[in-house]
Amino acid sequence: MSFDDAPIDPVSAERLVRGGLELRLVDHDDAAARDAWLHADFRGFHESAPSPERLAEVRAHAPRRRITGVYDPAAPLPAEPVATAQSWVAPLTVPGGGTVPLWSIASVTVAPTHRRRGVARAMLEAELRTAAAEGVPLAGLTVSEATIYGRYGFGAATFADVTEIETKRVRWSGPDASGRVRFVGPEQLLPDALRIVDAVRAFQPGAVRYDEVLLGRAIGLYGDDRAALRTVRYDDADGVPQGFACYRLTPTEGDFTKHTVTVQHLLGATDEADAALWRFLLELDLVSTVRAFERPVDEPVNWWIGDLRAARRRRLDRLWLRILDVPAVLEARRYAAATRLVLEVDDPDGFAAGRFLLEAGADGVGHVRSLGDEEASAEASVALPVTELSAIYLGGVSPVTMARAGRITEGTPGAALALERAFAAERTPWLVLEF
Ligand SMILES: CC(C)(COP(=O)(O)OP(=O)(O)OC[C@H]1O[C@@H](n2cnc3c(N)ncnc32)[C@H](O)[C@@H]1OP(=O)(O)O)[C@@H](O)C(=O)NCCC(=O)NCCS
Repeated sequence: MSFDDAPIDPVSAERLVRGGLELRLVDHDDAAARDAWLHADFRGFHESAPSPERLAEVRAHAPRRRITGVYDPAAPLPAEPVATAQSWVAPLTVPGGGTVPLWSIASVTVAPTHRRRGVARAMLEAELRTAAAEGVPLAGLTVSEATIYGRYGFGAATFADVTEIETKRVRWSGPDASGRVRFVGPEQLLPDALRIVDAVRAFQPGAVRYDEVLLGRAIGLYGDDRAALRTVRYDDADGVPQGFACYRLTPTEGDFTKHTVTVQHLLGATDEADAALWRFLLELDLVSTVRAFERPVDEPVNWWIGDLRAARRRRLDRLWLRILDVPAVLEARRYAAATRLVLEVDDPDGFAAGRFLLEAGADGVGHVRSLGDEEASAEASVALPVTELSAIYLGGVSPVTMARAGRITEGTPGAALALERAFAAERTPWLVLEF
Protein backbone atom coordinates (compact mmCIF):
# COMPACT_ATOMS: atom_id res chain seq x y z
CA MET A 1 0.00 0.00 0.00
CA SER A 2 1.28 3.47 -0.83
CA PHE A 3 0.88 6.42 1.48
CA ASP A 4 2.86 8.96 -0.61
CA ASP A 5 -0.10 11.17 -1.30
CA ALA A 6 -2.01 10.81 1.96
CA PRO A 7 -3.69 14.20 2.34
CA ILE A 8 -2.20 17.07 4.33
CA ASP A 9 -3.40 17.18 7.92
CA PRO A 10 -5.99 19.98 8.10
CA VAL A 11 -5.41 20.81 11.79
CA SER A 12 -1.70 21.59 11.34
CA ALA A 13 -2.28 23.26 7.98
CA GLU A 14 -4.76 25.62 9.60
CA ARG A 15 -2.46 26.38 12.51
CA LEU A 16 0.39 27.23 10.13
CA VAL A 17 -1.82 29.42 7.95
CA ARG A 18 -2.52 31.56 11.00
CA GLY A 19 1.25 32.28 11.06
CA GLY A 20 1.31 33.09 7.33
CA LEU A 21 2.77 29.68 6.34
CA GLU A 22 1.57 26.90 4.03
CA LEU A 23 1.93 23.16 4.64
CA ARG A 24 2.11 21.36 1.28
CA LEU A 25 2.77 17.96 -0.22
CA VAL A 26 5.71 17.99 -2.64
CA ASP A 27 5.09 16.16 -5.90
CA HIS A 28 7.70 13.42 -6.37
CA ASP A 29 7.65 14.06 -10.13
CA ASP A 30 8.12 17.84 -9.91
CA ALA A 31 11.91 18.06 -10.25
CA ALA A 32 12.16 21.79 -9.46
CA ALA A 33 10.05 21.47 -6.31
CA ARG A 34 12.04 18.44 -5.15
CA ASP A 35 15.37 20.14 -5.80
CA ALA A 36 14.25 23.17 -3.77
CA TRP A 37 13.02 20.89 -1.00
CA LEU A 38 16.38 19.03 -0.94
CA HIS A 39 18.26 22.34 -0.70
CA ALA A 40 16.21 23.17 2.42
CA ASP A 41 16.75 19.67 3.85
CA PHE A 42 20.55 19.90 3.41
CA ARG A 43 20.68 23.41 4.85
CA GLY A 44 18.61 22.26 7.83
CA PHE A 45 21.36 19.76 8.74
CA HIS A 46 24.17 22.27 8.12
CA GLU A 47 25.40 20.43 5.02
CA SER A 48 26.72 22.12 1.88
CA ALA A 49 24.15 22.65 -0.81
CA PRO A 50 23.57 19.44 -2.80
CA SER A 51 25.80 19.24 -5.86
CA PRO A 52 24.20 19.02 -9.33
CA GLU A 53 25.33 15.33 -9.36
CA ARG A 54 23.56 14.66 -6.07
CA LEU A 55 20.40 16.33 -7.30
CA ALA A 56 20.54 14.23 -10.47
CA GLU A 57 21.14 11.09 -8.40
CA VAL A 58 18.15 11.82 -6.18
CA ARG A 59 16.00 12.55 -9.23
CA ALA A 60 17.03 9.26 -10.84
CA HIS A 61 17.01 6.97 -7.83
CA ALA A 62 15.17 8.38 -4.82
CA PRO A 63 12.41 6.13 -3.52
CA ARG A 64 8.87 7.50 -3.61
CA ARG A 65 8.03 9.00 -0.27
CA ARG A 66 5.52 11.33 1.23
CA ILE A 67 7.43 14.61 1.10
CA THR A 68 6.07 17.68 2.86
CA GLY A 69 7.30 21.25 3.08
CA VAL A 70 6.21 24.38 4.89
CA TYR A 71 6.38 27.44 2.64
CA ASP A 72 6.55 31.13 3.44
CA PRO A 73 5.03 33.07 0.51
CA ALA A 74 6.56 36.30 1.91
CA ALA A 75 10.15 34.93 1.90
CA PRO A 76 12.68 36.12 -0.76
CA LEU A 77 12.91 32.48 -1.98
CA PRO A 78 9.26 31.38 -1.75
CA ALA A 79 9.83 28.14 -3.72
CA GLU A 80 12.26 26.88 -1.08
CA PRO A 81 10.48 25.45 1.96
CA VAL A 82 11.22 26.82 5.43
CA ALA A 83 10.57 23.38 6.91
CA THR A 84 10.85 19.83 5.59
CA ALA A 85 9.79 16.30 6.48
CA GLN A 86 9.40 13.00 4.66
CA SER A 87 7.70 9.78 5.67
CA TRP A 88 7.08 6.29 4.34
CA VAL A 89 5.87 2.96 5.65
CA ALA A 90 8.27 0.06 6.09
CA PRO A 91 8.04 -3.19 8.06
CA LEU A 92 9.75 -3.24 11.47
CA THR A 93 10.78 -6.66 12.80
CA VAL A 94 9.46 -7.31 16.32
CA PRO A 95 10.30 -10.03 18.89
CA GLY A 96 9.19 -13.40 17.55
CA GLY A 97 10.00 -12.50 13.93
CA GLY A 98 6.73 -10.82 12.95
CA THR A 99 6.57 -7.31 11.53
CA VAL A 100 4.66 -4.10 12.22
CA PRO A 101 4.18 -1.37 9.60
CA LEU A 102 6.28 1.56 10.74
CA TRP A 103 5.46 5.14 9.77
CA SER A 104 9.11 6.13 9.28
CA ILE A 105 9.91 9.83 9.50
CA ALA A 106 13.08 11.61 8.34
CA SER A 107 14.40 14.99 7.15
CA VAL A 108 12.67 16.97 9.90
CA THR A 109 14.14 20.46 9.60
CA VAL A 110 13.01 24.01 10.27
CA ALA A 111 14.99 26.93 8.83
CA PRO A 112 16.86 28.97 11.45
CA THR A 113 14.84 31.97 10.26
CA HIS A 114 11.60 30.24 11.37
CA ARG A 115 12.71 28.25 14.43
CA ARG A 116 10.91 28.06 17.78
CA ARG A 117 7.55 29.22 16.67
CA GLY A 118 5.85 25.81 16.60
CA VAL A 119 6.58 24.78 12.99
CA ALA A 120 8.22 21.45 13.91
CA ARG A 121 5.43 20.73 16.36
CA ALA A 122 2.84 21.33 13.63
CA MET A 123 4.71 18.99 11.25
CA LEU A 124 5.27 16.23 13.82
CA GLU A 125 1.70 16.28 15.02
CA ALA A 126 0.58 16.22 11.37
CA GLU A 127 2.75 13.12 10.75
CA LEU A 128 1.24 11.30 13.74
CA ARG A 129 -2.35 12.21 12.89
CA THR A 130 -1.82 11.21 9.25
CA ALA A 131 -0.24 7.87 10.24
CA ALA A 132 -3.12 7.13 12.62
CA ALA A 133 -5.70 8.16 10.01
CA GLU A 134 -4.06 5.76 7.53
CA GLY A 135 -4.27 2.95 10.10
CA VAL A 136 -0.50 2.67 10.68
CA PRO A 137 -0.04 1.61 14.33
CA LEU A 138 3.51 2.78 15.03
CA ALA A 139 5.76 5.71 14.08
CA GLY A 140 9.56 5.78 14.26
CA LEU A 141 12.58 7.95 13.58
CA THR A 142 16.23 8.47 14.43
CA VAL A 143 17.17 11.73 16.07
CA SER A 144 19.81 14.44 15.86
CA GLU A 145 19.24 15.35 19.52
CA ALA A 146 17.70 13.23 22.27
CA THR A 147 15.75 16.20 23.64
CA ILE A 148 13.36 16.81 20.76
CA TYR A 149 10.89 13.93 20.40
CA GLY A 150 9.87 12.72 23.88
CA ARG A 151 7.24 15.48 23.96
CA TYR A 152 5.48 13.80 21.01
CA GLY A 153 5.42 10.38 22.72
CA PHE A 154 8.58 8.89 21.13
CA GLY A 155 10.86 6.75 23.32
CA ALA A 156 14.33 5.39 22.50
CA ALA A 157 13.79 1.67 21.82
CA THR A 158 17.08 0.53 20.26
CA PHE A 159 20.69 1.47 20.86
CA ALA A 160 23.95 1.06 18.98
CA ASP A 161 27.62 1.49 19.74
CA VAL A 162 30.49 3.23 18.07
CA THR A 163 33.20 0.64 18.66
CA GLU A 164 36.91 1.35 18.50
CA ILE A 165 39.32 -1.58 18.67
CA GLU A 166 43.10 -1.29 19.13
CA THR A 167 44.18 -3.94 16.69
CA LYS A 168 47.70 -4.39 18.09
CA ARG A 169 46.13 -5.78 21.30
CA VAL A 170 43.90 -8.26 19.52
CA ARG A 171 44.61 -11.98 19.74
CA TRP A 172 41.94 -13.60 17.61
CA SER A 173 40.10 -16.16 19.71
CA GLY A 174 36.95 -16.44 17.61
CA PRO A 175 35.97 -19.21 15.22
CA ASP A 176 38.00 -20.07 12.12
CA ALA A 177 35.56 -19.44 9.31
CA SER A 178 35.39 -22.14 6.66
CA GLY A 179 34.60 -19.72 3.80
CA ARG A 180 36.46 -16.82 2.15
CA VAL A 181 36.47 -13.02 2.28
CA ARG A 182 36.74 -11.45 -1.21
CA PHE A 183 36.85 -7.95 -2.64
CA VAL A 184 33.80 -7.15 -4.74
CA GLY A 185 32.58 -4.09 -6.60
CA PRO A 186 29.44 -2.35 -5.33
CA GLU A 187 27.46 -3.31 -8.47
CA GLN A 188 28.30 -6.97 -7.86
CA LEU A 189 27.56 -6.67 -4.16
CA LEU A 190 24.13 -5.02 -4.38
CA PRO A 191 21.96 -8.13 -5.05
CA ASP A 192 23.84 -10.16 -2.42
CA ALA A 193 23.72 -7.27 0.07
CA LEU A 194 19.95 -7.03 -0.44
CA ARG A 195 19.56 -10.76 0.30
CA ILE A 196 21.85 -10.55 3.35
CA VAL A 197 20.06 -7.50 4.76
CA ASP A 198 16.72 -9.29 4.32
CA ALA A 199 18.06 -12.46 5.96
CA VAL A 200 19.23 -10.45 8.97
CA ARG A 201 15.97 -8.50 9.10
CA ALA A 202 14.03 -11.77 9.41
CA PHE A 203 15.64 -12.65 12.76
CA GLN A 204 16.67 -9.24 14.13
CA PRO A 205 14.09 -7.36 16.23
CA GLY A 206 14.40 -3.63 15.64
CA ALA A 207 15.42 -3.96 11.98
CA VAL A 208 13.48 -1.85 9.47
CA ARG A 209 13.30 -2.69 5.74
CA TYR A 210 15.96 -0.73 3.97
CA ASP A 211 15.42 0.76 0.59
CA GLU A 212 17.45 -0.60 -2.34
CA VAL A 213 18.55 2.93 -3.24
CA LEU A 214 19.76 3.66 0.28
CA LEU A 215 21.60 0.35 0.37
CA GLY A 216 23.23 1.22 -2.96
CA ARG A 217 24.44 4.46 -1.41
CA ALA A 218 25.61 2.66 1.77
CA ILE A 219 27.79 0.24 -0.21
CA GLY A 220 29.22 2.95 -2.47
CA LEU A 221 27.17 2.53 -5.63
CA TYR A 222 26.32 6.23 -5.51
CA GLY A 223 27.55 9.07 -3.37
CA ASP A 224 30.24 11.70 -3.40
CA ASP A 225 32.98 9.81 -1.54
CA ARG A 226 32.48 6.37 -2.97
CA ALA A 227 35.99 6.20 -4.42
CA ALA A 228 37.43 5.71 -0.93
CA LEU A 229 35.03 2.94 0.05
CA ARG A 230 36.23 -0.68 -0.08
CA THR A 231 33.71 -3.49 -0.18
CA VAL A 232 34.29 -7.12 0.78
CA ARG A 233 31.93 -10.07 0.80
CA TYR A 234 32.07 -13.27 2.83
CA ASP A 235 31.20 -16.45 0.93
CA ASP A 236 30.62 -19.58 3.03
CA ALA A 237 32.26 -22.96 2.32
CA ASP A 238 29.57 -23.65 -0.32
CA GLY A 239 30.29 -20.32 -2.02
CA VAL A 240 27.06 -18.70 -0.80
CA PRO A 241 27.44 -14.97 0.07
CA GLN A 242 26.60 -14.59 3.77
CA GLY A 243 27.98 -11.20 4.76
CA PHE A 244 29.61 -7.99 3.62
CA ALA A 245 31.59 -5.07 4.97
CA CYS A 246 32.26 -1.54 3.65
CA TYR A 247 35.18 0.41 5.05
CA ARG A 248 37.65 3.17 4.32
CA LEU A 249 41.25 3.76 5.44
CA THR A 250 42.79 6.92 6.85
CA PRO A 251 46.57 7.26 7.32
CA THR A 252 48.19 8.64 10.48
CA GLU A 253 50.62 11.40 9.59
CA GLY A 254 54.20 10.34 10.24
CA ASP A 255 53.47 6.64 10.85
CA PHE A 256 52.46 4.54 7.89
CA THR A 257 51.88 1.50 10.14
CA LYS A 258 48.98 3.18 11.94
CA HIS A 259 46.09 3.54 9.52
CA THR A 260 42.59 3.77 10.94
CA VAL A 261 39.91 1.61 9.38
CA THR A 262 36.45 3.16 9.53
CA VAL A 263 33.82 0.51 9.08
CA GLN A 264 30.66 1.90 7.58
CA HIS A 265 28.80 -1.42 7.60
CA LEU A 266 29.55 -4.98 8.63
CA LEU A 267 26.67 -7.36 8.34
CA GLY A 268 26.59 -11.15 8.52
CA ALA A 269 23.59 -13.40 8.02
CA THR A 270 25.46 -15.96 10.15
CA ASP A 271 27.79 -15.67 13.15
CA GLU A 272 30.50 -17.27 11.03
CA ALA A 273 30.19 -14.47 8.48
CA ASP A 274 30.42 -11.85 11.24
CA ALA A 275 33.53 -13.55 12.61
CA ALA A 276 35.23 -13.81 9.23
CA LEU A 277 34.61 -10.15 8.39
CA TRP A 278 35.71 -8.88 11.79
CA ARG A 279 38.87 -10.98 11.62
CA PHE A 280 39.66 -9.72 8.12
CA LEU A 281 39.43 -6.09 9.31
CA LEU A 282 41.27 -6.61 12.60
CA GLU A 283 44.17 -8.36 10.85
CA LEU A 284 44.68 -5.80 8.06
CA ASP A 285 48.34 -4.84 7.83
CA LEU A 286 49.46 -1.23 8.49
CA VAL A 287 46.41 -0.64 10.68
CA SER A 288 46.28 0.21 14.39
CA THR A 289 42.62 1.09 14.93
CA VAL A 290 39.33 -0.24 13.64
CA ARG A 291 36.41 2.08 14.27
CA ALA A 292 32.95 0.75 13.49
CA PHE A 293 29.65 2.60 13.56
CA GLU A 294 26.13 1.44 14.37
CA ARG A 295 27.22 -1.79 16.06
CA PRO A 296 24.85 -3.97 18.10
CA VAL A 297 25.41 -3.33 21.80
CA ASP A 298 26.18 -6.95 22.63
CA GLU A 299 27.82 -8.41 19.54
CA PRO A 300 30.05 -11.52 19.83
CA VAL A 301 33.21 -9.72 18.65
CA ASN A 302 33.83 -8.69 22.27
CA TRP A 303 34.62 -12.35 22.98
CA TRP A 304 36.69 -12.90 19.86
CA ILE A 305 39.52 -10.39 20.43
CA GLY A 306 41.28 -11.96 23.41
CA ASP A 307 41.34 -8.67 25.34
CA LEU A 308 38.00 -7.14 26.35
CA ARG A 309 39.69 -3.79 26.96
CA ALA A 310 41.06 -3.60 23.44
CA ALA A 311 37.56 -2.39 22.50
CA ARG A 312 36.05 0.90 23.61
CA ARG A 313 32.39 1.50 23.04
CA ARG A 314 30.24 4.62 23.05
CA ARG A 315 26.50 4.05 23.13
CA LEU A 316 23.89 6.05 21.27
CA ASP A 317 20.12 5.75 21.09
CA ARG A 318 19.04 4.79 17.57
CA LEU A 319 15.42 3.94 16.76
CA TRP A 320 12.81 5.99 18.61
CA LEU A 321 9.29 4.56 18.50
CA ARG A 322 5.87 6.11 19.08
CA ILE A 323 2.96 3.73 19.58
CA LEU A 324 -0.30 4.89 18.02
CA ASP A 325 -2.39 1.71 18.34
CA VAL A 326 -1.66 -0.30 21.50
CA PRO A 327 -3.57 -3.54 20.74
CA ALA A 328 -2.20 -3.72 17.17
CA VAL A 329 1.46 -3.43 18.15
CA LEU A 330 1.25 -5.57 21.29
CA GLU A 331 -0.47 -8.39 19.40
CA ALA A 332 2.12 -8.26 16.59
CA ARG A 333 5.00 -9.38 18.82
CA ARG A 334 5.60 -12.61 20.76
CA TYR A 335 6.15 -12.84 24.52
CA ALA A 336 8.95 -14.67 26.32
CA ALA A 337 6.81 -15.62 29.32
CA ALA A 338 3.15 -16.30 29.99
CA THR A 339 1.66 -13.17 31.49
CA ARG A 340 -1.53 -11.35 32.46
CA LEU A 341 -1.11 -7.63 32.99
CA VAL A 342 -3.32 -4.56 33.00
CA LEU A 343 -1.44 -1.64 31.42
CA GLU A 344 -2.66 1.88 32.05
CA VAL A 345 -1.24 4.03 29.29
CA ASP A 346 -1.13 7.79 29.51
CA ASP A 347 -1.03 9.66 26.19
CA PRO A 348 -1.78 13.40 26.24
CA ASP A 349 -2.33 13.28 22.46
CA GLY A 350 -4.92 10.57 22.88
CA PHE A 351 -3.75 7.98 20.32
CA ALA A 352 -2.65 5.29 22.78
CA ALA A 353 -4.40 6.30 26.00
CA GLY A 354 -6.42 3.72 27.90
CA ARG A 355 -6.36 0.56 29.98
CA PHE A 356 -5.39 -2.60 28.22
CA LEU A 357 -5.43 -6.21 29.36
CA LEU A 358 -2.46 -8.12 27.92
CA GLU A 359 -2.65 -11.89 28.19
CA ALA A 360 0.03 -14.13 26.73
CA GLY A 361 0.17 -17.92 26.93
CA ALA A 362 3.12 -20.28 27.01
CA ASP A 363 3.10 -20.23 23.18
CA GLY A 364 4.12 -16.55 23.33
CA VAL A 365 1.02 -15.33 21.50
CA GLY A 366 -0.45 -12.20 23.09
CA HIS A 367 -4.06 -11.07 23.20
CA VAL A 368 -4.86 -7.49 24.03
CA ARG A 369 -8.22 -6.05 24.99
CA SER A 370 -9.04 -2.43 25.60
CA LEU A 371 -10.87 -2.34 28.93
CA GLY A 372 -14.19 -0.53 28.79
CA ASP A 373 -15.53 1.83 31.43
CA GLU A 374 -17.21 -0.98 33.38
CA GLU A 375 -13.82 -2.66 33.80
CA ALA A 376 -11.86 0.53 34.33
CA SER A 377 -11.76 -0.04 38.05
CA ALA A 378 -9.58 -3.14 37.54
CA GLU A 379 -6.34 -2.24 39.23
CA ALA A 380 -3.54 -1.53 36.75
CA SER A 381 -0.52 -3.79 37.08
CA VAL A 382 1.58 -0.93 35.73
CA ALA A 383 0.86 2.67 34.76
CA LEU A 384 3.15 4.25 32.20
CA PRO A 385 3.27 7.06 29.62
CA VAL A 386 3.19 6.10 25.94
CA THR A 387 6.83 7.25 25.69
CA GLU A 388 7.91 4.48 28.09
CA LEU A 389 5.65 1.83 26.54
CA SER A 390 7.19 2.69 23.16
CA ALA A 391 10.70 2.47 24.64
CA ILE A 392 10.21 -1.00 26.19
CA TYR A 393 8.16 -2.38 23.30
CA LEU A 394 10.99 -4.22 21.52
CA GLY A 395 12.57 -5.58 24.71
CA GLY A 396 15.65 -3.38 24.50
CA VAL A 397 14.90 -1.21 27.54
CA SER A 398 14.37 -2.67 31.02
CA PRO A 399 10.94 -2.04 32.63
CA VAL A 400 12.54 -2.78 36.02
CA THR A 401 15.05 0.04 35.47
CA MET A 402 12.25 2.30 34.21
CA ALA A 403 10.30 1.56 37.40
CA ARG A 404 13.38 2.36 39.49
CA ALA A 405 13.74 5.60 37.52
CA GLY A 406 10.16 6.49 38.39
CA ARG A 407 9.02 6.35 34.76
CA ILE A 408 6.79 3.27 35.24
CA THR A 409 4.53 2.94 38.28
CA GLU A 410 3.80 -0.51 39.67
CA GLY A 411 0.18 -1.05 40.72
CA THR A 412 1.00 -4.53 41.95
CA PRO A 413 4.40 -5.42 43.41
CA GLY A 414 6.63 -7.30 40.96
CA ALA A 415 4.64 -6.17 37.91
CA ALA A 416 7.66 -4.44 36.32
CA LEU A 417 9.65 -7.68 36.57
CA ALA A 418 6.75 -9.61 35.05
CA LEU A 419 6.69 -7.06 32.23
CA GLU A 420 10.43 -7.40 31.76
CA ARG A 421 10.26 -11.21 31.54
CA ALA A 422 7.37 -11.12 29.10
CA PHE A 423 8.86 -8.38 26.88
CA ALA A 424 12.35 -9.92 26.66
CA ALA A 425 13.49 -10.36 23.04
CA GLU A 426 15.39 -13.31 21.56
CA ARG A 427 18.15 -10.86 20.53
CA THR A 428 18.86 -7.36 21.74
CA PRO A 429 17.00 -5.10 19.31
CA TRP A 430 19.14 -3.41 16.68
CA LEU A 431 18.11 -1.09 13.87
CA VAL A 432 20.82 -2.63 11.61
CA LEU A 433 20.88 0.19 9.03
CA GLU A 434 20.04 3.74 10.00
CA PHE A 435 17.40 5.50 7.91
C1 LIG B 1 14.79 20.58 15.83
C2 LIG B 1 14.00 21.54 14.96
C3 LIG B 1 13.32 20.75 13.84
C4 LIG B 1 12.94 22.22 15.85
O1 LIG B 1 12.13 23.04 15.05
P1 LIG B 1 11.28 24.28 15.69
O2 LIG B 1 10.26 24.64 14.67
O3 LIG B 1 12.20 25.31 16.18
O4 LIG B 1 10.56 23.57 16.92
P2 LIG B 1 9.18 24.08 17.56
O5 LIG B 1 9.17 25.57 17.65
O6 LIG B 1 8.03 23.43 16.89
O7 LIG B 1 9.33 23.48 19.01
C5 LIG B 1 8.43 22.52 19.54
C6 LIG B 1 8.93 22.14 20.91
O8 LIG B 1 10.21 21.49 20.79
C7 LIG B 1 11.18 22.19 21.58
N1 LIG B 1 12.44 22.09 20.83
C8 LIG B 1 12.65 22.44 19.57
N2 LIG B 1 13.91 22.14 19.22
C9 LIG B 1 14.49 21.61 20.30
C10 LIG B 1 15.80 21.10 20.55
N3 LIG B 1 16.75 21.12 19.61
N4 LIG B 1 16.06 20.61 21.78
C11 LIG B 1 15.09 20.60 22.74
N5 LIG B 1 13.84 21.06 22.53
C12 LIG B 1 13.55 21.55 21.32
C13 LIG B 1 10.65 23.59 21.71
O9 LIG B 1 11.19 24.22 22.84
C14 LIG B 1 9.17 23.33 21.82
O10 LIG B 1 8.87 22.88 23.12
P3 LIG B 1 7.41 22.94 23.75
O11 LIG B 1 6.41 23.04 22.62
O12 LIG B 1 7.29 21.68 24.51
O13 LIG B 1 7.42 24.17 24.57
C15 LIG B 1 14.90 22.64 14.35
O14 LIG B 1 15.57 23.32 15.40
C16 LIG B 1 15.94 22.12 13.39
O15 LIG B 1 15.70 22.07 12.20
N6 LIG B 1 17.14 21.74 13.88
C17 LIG B 1 18.24 21.30 13.02
C18 LIG B 1 17.92 19.98 12.30
C19 LIG B 1 17.53 18.90 13.27
O16 LIG B 1 18.23 18.64 14.23
N7 LIG B 1 16.39 18.26 12.99
C20 LIG B 1 15.90 17.15 13.76
C21 LIG B 1 16.23 15.94 12.98
S1 LIG B 1 15.96 14.46 13.86
